[in-house]
Amino acid sequence: MSLWNDLQYHHRDTMDRHILKLFENEHRAAGFSVTHDGLLFDYSKTAMDPHARDLLIRLAESSHVGASAEAMFSGQKINETEGRAVLHTALRNLDGSVTVDGRDVMPEVRAIHARMEGFARDVREGRFKGQGGKITDIVNIGIGGSDLGPAMAAIALSPYADGPRAHFVSNVDGAHVHDVLKPLNPETTLVIVASKTFTTIETMTNAEAARRWMAAKVKDPAAQFAAVSTSLDKTGAFGIPAARVFGFEDWVGGRYSMWGPIGLSLMIAIGPENFGDFLKGGAAMDAHFRDEPFAQNMPVMLALVGIWHNQICGYATRAVLPYEQRLARLPAYLQQLEMESNGKRVAMDGADLTEHSGPVVWGEPGTNGQHAFYQLIHQGTRVIPCEFMLGREGHEPDLAAQHRLLSANCLAQSEALLRGRSLDEARGIMAKKGLTGDELDRQARHRVFPGNRPSTTLLYPKLTPYVLGQIVALYEHRVFVEGVILGINSFDQWGVELGKELALALDLVLKGEDDGAVKDGSTRQLVAYLRG
Ligand code: F6P
Repeated sequence: MSLWNDLQYHHRDTMDRHILKLFENEHRAAGFSVTHDGLLFDYSKTAMDPHARDLLIRLAESSHVGASAEAMFSGQKINETEGRAVLHTALRNLDGSVTVDGRDVMPEVRAIHARMEGFARDVREGRFKGQGGKITDIVNIGIGGSDLGPAMAAIALSPYADGPRAHFVSNVDGAHVHDVLKPLNPETTLVIVASKTFTTIETMTNAEAARRWMAAKVKDPAAQFAAVSTSLDKTGAFGIPAARVFGFEDWVGGRYSMWGPIGLSLMIAIGPENFGDFLKGGAAMDAHFRDEPFAQNMPVMLALVGIWHNQICGYATRAVLPYEQRLARLPAYLQQLEMESNGKRVAMDGADLTEHSGPVVWGEPGTNGQHAFYQLIHQGTRVIPCEFMLGREGHEPDLAAQHRLLSANCLAQSEALLRGRSLDEARGIMAKKGLTGDELDRQARHRVFPGNRPSTTLLYPKLTPYVLGQIVALYEHRVFVEGVILGINSFDQWGVELGKELALALDLVLKGEDDGAVKDGSTRQLVAYLRG
């Protein structure tokens, strides 16, 4: 019998047991937590018991998670459908040495990093002046992995932002580039066009719009542009001088790229030292992931909780709930990281997956979400595993009482999900309010919380650059481990291609140039409406 079957049977046999029952073991909390380098990951409020964990760890071992991780770290071409190595970890381990195709790639990585640092210092310290005497604002134009990472981190690390203000344009909706550029002065703005391929239609269209905006005010628009790309011939064709082009290799996947040149906007905003601390946090998590046995390995255990909830218990989504307003964009960042990586229908060998692919990931910061969608998490008919995150300390010592309240709310939610409120308890509350008879029963039923709903909590000391690096690398490796166990190639994204191709064809249709491209009645009707 396979481990998958063992897990399914074990789940079926234990599914009626309340999670609270597991806390009869007084060591439950400590035994079902991982602590490392200031972080505490508590997964004790899940239904995973010692036997389930044992089976899950055996599943990870039999899937060769350890060997696969080594293959990744050592530069083997594990992205088999694109014939590429996967080496975002090399971008944050600058002292390391990694060989791809017989060549040590690290001298190049260090050289680009040094160039980024030099340019970031020039911009921050006023040696790169633009045409207005200094740069006050930078606009990163990119999308997906060329936007979400630095955009998320620029908000997360705003207490450390002491350089030019960073802005981000991604959507091809002209409203985005228009609204971001409107309050800015072209003479004091640096535009960074960030695109791995330098062909992405949204980014190139927005870059052209920004160049027109710049050209209307400054003599030499190209002088206020920089680029980040693997495609140096295309950045040259766009008119950006090589001195301000920061290249990287195809072994950095888009959604894993914020550690290198795609992080340039972040580095300019928070400074090379803070950016360096962010890299150190990521590298520390890499070392932990490589070295620790699975049961004490935070990314592995986070992944196994994911497999337990999604593939074994059948919960199709997971909510990421940072109690940290500055992590407002983390759920969007994780959506790309997790869903573009593990949203696949076939395994590496092309065969249909035998288990479900990765889950739907969604979320919002607490406490806002509590006043929006938590109702469904507490009382809806579907179970949604929740991943809470919280710092011990905020960055506003004069608002410490608010941080305490924030923390209390975070703990209260996971406790409420665990304990719930029984019908008897709800009846007691309504009786105290003076209700009796049928009305008491009816009202009480609405106030029942089933409880027994799983959650995990990740605690960290404070959202510093180092800690953000730890958290991002933690989730990257979690996605990797889940992908290995499912047999997925987590590093390609063929599923985004069809829509891109059809959009190009439909652009011609909307222009009135190729009506034959529309094959179905619904799309024809929508086109007719839009044409007016
Ligand atoms: O369409 C998906 C995607 O290829 C992502 O994987 C990537 O992060 C994004 O587009 C942007 O790509 P690029 O950096 O090449 O513009």
